Amino acid sequence: MPIEYSQREKSYELYRKGKREGTWDPDDYDLEGDRADWQQFSDEEQHRFLATCSGFYDGEEDVTRTLAPYMMALDALPNEEMPFDTVQEEMYLAQQVYEEAKHTDLFSRYFEEVFDTQETAPYREGGYQEQGYSTDNLYDTADDLMAAIDSGDRTELVYALGEAYLNYMGIVEAQLARGGYLSFDQMIELKAEQMGRDVVLESFQESIGKVRQDETRHIENGRWILQQLTEAEPDIVADVYEPRIEEYVENRLLSGPLYEDQPFEGYDQHKIGKQVVQYLQDTIDYIGADQFDRYDDVRAAMKKQQAAD
Ligand SMILES: [Fe+2]
Ligand SMILES: [Fe+2]
Repeated sequence: MPIEYSQREKSYELYRKGKREGTWDPDDYDLEGDRADWQQFSDEEQHRFLATCSGFYDGEEDVTRTLAPYMMALDALPNEEMPFDTVQEEMYLAQQVYEEAKHTDLFSRYFEEVFDTQETAPYREGGYQEQGYSTDNLYDTADDLMAAIDSGDRTELVYALGEAYLNYMGIVEAQLARGGYLSFDQMIELKAEQMGRDVVLESFQESIGKVRQDETRHIENGRWILQQLTEAEPDIVADVYEPRIEEYVENRLLSGPLYEDQPFEGYDQHKIGKQVVQYLQDTIDYIGADQFDRYDDVRAAMKKQQAAD
């Protein structure tokens, strides 16, 4: 089936953008300066910074390893019955999986050359995994997609894809990763202030800036597909999206802080929390808030949930 160049959809446009922006190389960054800076972090600061980096290193590997079934599930859909072109979306995901591999590559190199370790587990205790949500869940999501492919049932495929895109792009990328970037920003800024410097871990900040740029495209594409799937099966909002969002809000937004100890003087968790709620609202607004029964207004829904607990 030809792809009409005059009928490029959102995913194709983002793919084209990715060809221009997504070609950076983790090997291009000189890490000597970062290595020297890292020695200036106290043990507690190193541990806290490594906790967030470990979540990312593991997470980038998890997203790299679990994206392939999304392409297969899209390919199993009857394209002509869908409100979007599944082939253009498959092209987009082909690019995304390469970018996720590159993000894994970046963290792998940074751990090796700056942190002097490849271990993540010791830094993750008490973190994401114990709070009832982590990128580990993406393996189950991938299994669910494979089961839907086997069934060959259109609604089952659309529902499984809706849950998968919500977990991966809607929560892992749009919520967890972006919350992590805000945490990096604060830790680095506070450390620079403490050292009387304009900038520390300069190569980390520059390369993570590239990761963030890639992730912005991943999130936008994910939101667009969530919206398209809603058009294909309007009940998906009540049946799949809202229960999954409720679980996330319960486990992550209404639970206590992720890390009890905060060695960076002046660190403001509350500010990050507020921003993360706004990200969720943005995803819901993109899909269409009027389609939502309980989460059209995230702040109001959270208040209600809190009162009920
Ligand atoms: Fe990534
Ligand atoms: Fe991503």
